[in-house]
Amino acid sequence: MRAHSETTTVTDDAAVPHGARAARSVPAPGTGPAPRHTRATEAVLLVGGKGTRLRPLTVHTPKPMVPAAGVPFLTHQLARARAAGIEHIVLATSYLAEVFEPHFGDGSALGLHLEYVTETEPLGTGGAIRNVAARLHSAPGDPVLVFNGDILTGLDIPALVATHRRTGADVSLHLTKVPDPRAFGLVPTDPDGRVTAFLEKPQTPEQIVTDQINAGAYVFTRSAIDAIPAGRPVSVERETFPGLLADGAHLQGMVDSTYWLDLGTPQAFVRGSADLVLGRAPSPAVPGRCGERLVLPGADVAEDAKLFGGTSVAAGAVVGPGARLDGSAVLAGAAVAEGAVIRNSLIGAGARIGARTVLDGVVVGDGAEVGADNELLDGVRVWCGARIEPGSIRFSSDAG
Ligand code: GDD
Ligand code: MG
Repeated sequence: MRAHSETTTVTDDAAVPHGARAARSVPAPGTGPAPRHTRATEAVLLVGGKGTRLRPLTVHTPKPMVPAAGVPFLTHQLARARAAGIEHIVLATSYLAEVFEPHFGDGSALGLHLEYVTETEPLGTGGAIRNVAARLHSAPGDPVLVFNGDILTGLDIPALVATHRRTGADVSLHLTKVPDPRAFGLVPTDPDGRVTAFLEKPQTPEQIVTDQINAGAYVFTRSAIDAIPAGRPVSVERETFPGLLADGAHLQGMVDSTYWLDLGTPQAFVRGSADLVLGRAPSPAVPGRCGERLVLPGADVAEDAKLFGGTSVAAGAVVGPGARLDGSAVLAGAAVAEGAVIRNSLIGAGARIGARTVLDGVVVGDGAEVGADNELLDGVRVWCGARIEPGSIRFSSDAG
């Protein structure tokens, strides 16, 4: 059940203009004093999910720390937020929480002030946002950004904040259109872009009322974060948003057609990494020039190996003569032997791929070994440390 006393605080708030709401009465641009903050400077990043659908990539590594285009995926989100003027980011961590801080520290390398808050028990998306509230510096009426930690997008962050300001919403949501919305939160809006319902992961065909989905980036008016019940699991999608709507709060949608991908599955992750390398997905954090390939310092790639389609090869990885890698990621210390053909696949840290082996749409877990002359296709997941003997698995009938 929803905690009415908590959510009504937000509804009541609508009657008492302050902070961001006061910005609604600000005179036309250039004719009066500027609103207190014209941009958001704080964000919450939700990085506590278990990343179950990404296994085995997430067995040893939380989803946001799996490398995409040569750096932990989270680096791209942090760098994009920084480029949009965000200065302070609180990471809401839970699963494998201990790995974030040793890598990113206080954030100064990225020009950010980073803080980490770890949940003892996973609190869900809404509970995680509420749980970091004490670390926010924003005043009750200020805008605070919230990001899902697994989204690769070209979202114009300042435009979302501007929409929030212009409409005086309690929460503004980035929306995108997808061909099959069933795995997402459906967000129908009225002609003014005001959200009329929030249907997380619809179960019946009747519930599929729109192809507009929650793209996983929000601007909350700070007071709406404080109104989420504290100390228990809360789903922002199943409880907070529907509750706010039921209470008459203003949720505003901003639909756009910029690049957008949820990296929740292995195939999406591999696609996202390749798009970063190719420059199709914008990020200031790609460690090199965008193009067909990204070979990081310390990688050893044979001269006649062919790397294209946004393939990345990390430090300490080896690619042998005649190998052909298309749209794939080879993580640190992995080895791809001569003549291997690898397409749309991810080779985990320290994994080994034997000579002439063909992989297409495959993830190979850290430290796994796929012997020579195998052929693995279409979504196969080789578990961390597993060993596949040479010549033991084929899809096609020819003996190669
Ligand atoms: N701290 C913390 N604690 N973070 C969490 C928790 C938790 O208990 N549970 C999930 N998260 C984080 C995940 O790490 C991820 O970054 C984000 O919250 C969303 O969780 P996912 O598990 O990736 O959700 P989803 O992809 O099924 O659906 C969400 O994203 C879709 C867009 O990609 C929803 O927000 C949908 O409405 C949305 O359409
Ligand atoms: Mg997700």
